[in-house]
Amino acid sequence: MLKQILYWIRYLTADTPWDTGIVPPEIIELIEGEQIPAGQAIDLGCGTGTTSIYLARNGWQATGIDLVGRAIREARRKARRERVEGKTTFRRGDVIKESCRLDDRSFDLAVDIGCFHSLSAQESRDYAAMLKRIMRPGGTFMLYSFSPTAPDEFGYTPEQIIDLFTPEFGLNHKALGIDTAGGRQSGWYRFTRK
Ligand SMILES: C[S@@+](CC[C@H](N)C(=O)[O-])C[C@H]1O[C@@H](n2cnc3c(N)ncnc32)[C@H](O)[C@@H]1O
Repeated sequence: MLKQILYWIRYLTADTPWDTGIVPPEIIELIEGEQIPAGQAIDLGCGTGTTSIYLARNGWQATGIDLVGRAIREARRKARRERVEGKTTFRRGDVIKESCRLDDRSFDLAVDIGCFHSLSAQESRDYAAMLKRIMRPGGTFMLYSFSPTAPDEFGYTPEQIIDLFTPEFGLNHKALGIDTAGGRQSGWYRFTRK
């Protein structure tokens, strides 16, 4: 609830530095570079839907979930503007609770750009269990997450992330770096559901 209020305030006051409208190159490389076959995608913590809409424009059926109604309403507006409302579904709610309504093995691609890293330890375990359930074998999970460098910083270390998602997911690739906006240690992780 507290987190929901904090994010709600950030969208209300336009304090959303992540909402650049830019699709990360890691996602573009996967979709346009590798041209993985389009299917069902889920965008966890989708914000205003930039990545969901990009996926829909590239032939995917995309479901975006976010806590904040204002972000979800903006995502729906953007989807209408881009004429992909039929290829997108936006749901307001918690990523773990909303996923209870999703069928087992129903997604070929999951994307999380900046949502997972703010979950509590218990939520991160529930999230991993949820993702293992809803992903199809062979499905791809792209995760962008902060890593803590001090005890009071939120996020998960690469070791914690790999522990949470393996062995049900195999790690294909990990690229660690520094977030350009906030200067935090961060990483891109690519997993495949076994
Ligand atoms: C850093 S923003 C990134 C938004 C979007 N992925 C993007 O790249 O523009 C994190 C988003 O996750 C959402 N979020 C955080 N915790 C969530 C949760 N438990 N369930 C659903 N959404 C959540 C926030 O409301 C926020 O929109």
